[in-house]
Amino acid sequence: MKLAVVGATGLVGREIIKVIEKKQIEISEFYPVASERSKDKVIIYRNKEYKCITPDDLLKKDINIAIFSAGSRVSEIYAPLLADKGIYVIDNSSQWRMYKNIPLVVPEINPETITKNTKIIANPNCSTIQMVLALSRLHKEYKLKEIVVATYQSVTGSGMKGILQLESEKKGESINRYYPHPIEQNCLPHAGDFLENRYTTEEMKLINETHKIFNDYSIHISPTAVRVPVVGGHSEAIHAVFEKDIEIKNVYDILNDTPGVKVLDKIEEFEYPMPIYARGKDEVFVGRIRKDLFDDKAINIWVVADNLRKGAATNAVQIAEYIIEKM
Ligand code: A2P
Repeated sequence: MKLAVVGATGLVGREIIKVIEKKQIEISEFYPVASERSKDKVIIYRNKEYKCITPDDLLKKDINIAIFSAGSRVSEIYAPLLADKGIYVIDNSSQWRMYKNIPLVVPEINPETITKNTKIIANPNCSTIQMVLALSRLHKEYKLKEIVVATYQSVTGSGMKGILQLESEKKGESINRYYPHPIEQNCLPHAGDFLENRYTTEEMKLINETHKIFNDYSIHISPTAVRVPVVGGHSEAIHAVFEKDIEIKNVYDILNDTPGVKVLDKIEEFEYPMPIYARGKDEVFVGRIRKDLFDDKAINIWVVADNLRKGAATNAVQIAEYIIEKM
């Protein structure tokens, strides 16, 4: 297996390398790729030093899989060039997600959409991954009708720029302003860019990507995406309405049986998921599991995951594992 990580110097790229190391995937050739600015910068992988190359250098290499996390523009240009050479590209950017013939994959849910002909595979948005994974088995059992979700999104979702603003404000400086307002001691009801319909790009990703992953365009989804001064991961308060009556004991059983999900819900001991403990972990944590008090077909849950891990790197590496095993 010859593998490249494009965007290897970035926040997600570095997590991808950590996850590959942890999973013990056998790799015979490894290529870290970054911009011209980072050419020859050293990246450590399994205690060995590798020098960064550029995407143009990568085109001359004979590789099997490239995992991209270097922004939409780099994916737009280079993913098709690699795919034309028969290389599988797992793309973490939003560039290819909504293209009809490109699978949008959470490996626990829809790995079968990957085939020998789908060389570009899109990794969903971080907020979408944790929401659909938590709801996937419940959807199978009870059939989702509606989701109302509020996100509490970590600044790490904005890359280094978000972290730098939070860190500088914590020190009492107001340099490095990336968001339009202070983020320390604040919540911004604004993640991504505003669109004509007054929703944000992050909110529309929750709608469009969920429909595509579940291949069910009938689900009503009402999202509000909020940026919070947190670094460990994204949290989501989810109200889910189903077609059938819910038995709450069964909801626990289903969530306990959902691969990739860990239930943390001992309220007597104040146990519930929190981003501070999700950081660096690969699971999606679910807690505060309650039946709705007014609707027998609805539940409320609280879902937390490290957006750089299952929301990005872990999911992408799981897709790579699936390709290695099945293709
Ligand atoms: P570089 O470090 O050379 O800028 P983040 O989202 O954390 O800011 O990371 C973005 C990643 O994408 C970095 O690894 C960055 O490399 C990489 N990148 C940005 N622009 C390009 C480009 N034109 N070609 C290749 N990699 C790029």
